Amino acid sequence: MAKKASKRRVARRSEDELEKLKVAGQIVGETLDLLHVQIVPGVTTLKLDKLAEDHIRARGALLSFKGYRGYPAATCIQVDDVVVHGIPDETVLEAGQVVGVDLGAYCDGYHCDAAFTTIVGQTGEHHELLDTTQGALMAGLAQARAGNRLKQISQAVQEYVESRGYSVVRQLTGHGIGQQMHEPPQIPNFYSRGAFEDYELVLQPGMVLAIEPMVNAGTEQVQVDEDGWTVRTADGELSAHFEHTVVVTDSEPLILTLAEGAKLLSDVPGYRQA
Ligand code: MF3
Ligand code: CO
Repeated sequence: MAKKASKRRVARRSEDELEKLKVAGQIVGETLDLLHVQIVPGVTTLKLDKLAEDHIRARGALLSFKGYRGYPAATCIQVDDVVVHGIPDETVLEAGQVVGVDLGAYCDGYHCDAAFTTIVGQTGEHHELLDTTQGALMAGLAQARAGNRLKQISQAVQEYVESRGYSVVRQLTGHGIGQQMHEPPQIPNFYSRGAFEDYELVLQPGMVLAIEPMVNAGTEQVQVDEDGWTVRTADGELSAHFEHTVVVTDSEPLILTLAEGAKLLSDVPGYRQA
């Protein structure tokens, strides 16, 4: 019963819809690349947000995040112990900080959403946390195949992260995406039998998923600031986040959120890195 209900709840996109998703995904990828090179000591997170907003609008798309449940900006930018949903402001970035950027674009009725994390000034520290999170995304993406169950994504991410001594955030998940930014299924980054209805979902071609491991250096516990958005690690340790929007196909997943346009997973040369 639950399986059938879950199956029906998850959209499978037509070729026509996928063409629109590809356009939105490319704009997201371009915008992330644009911001990546601007993350230098002295820049404010608000300046980065404006660059993102300008590029998304110049490409004829709309902002997925601004106005979503009252969210005030085009991007989420998270510094150091902020896990996700950091609101851009006059914070000046400093060398060595761990900075994540998450953004979405809405084009012709369809959303795409992606994120990366980097280190300001490319200093030598914290690469292991970033590599682990990026590797966890890769491990999860590799399981996004027709016929697999959704929990295989969750298990692959968790195994990758925990075997390296880091922890996965459990209070937030990845998600289906398309006509809404957040659609079923929920995509947890850990497996605990019975905890999520969607674990047993059998992935089908045309399902569009936003896979997004959030990885903490210390405890998996998080807390939300008084602004109602900013999610931080409970122990003040660092956190990292990577995300892509992908389409399940008959073979490998198609990664939509790349600046050069959609590519099958094995054709992605590497991910954005510090
Ligand atoms: N990228 C976030 C997610 O995947 C969405 C940010 S919520 C917003 O859930 F309000 F900032 F848009
Ligand atoms: Co997302």
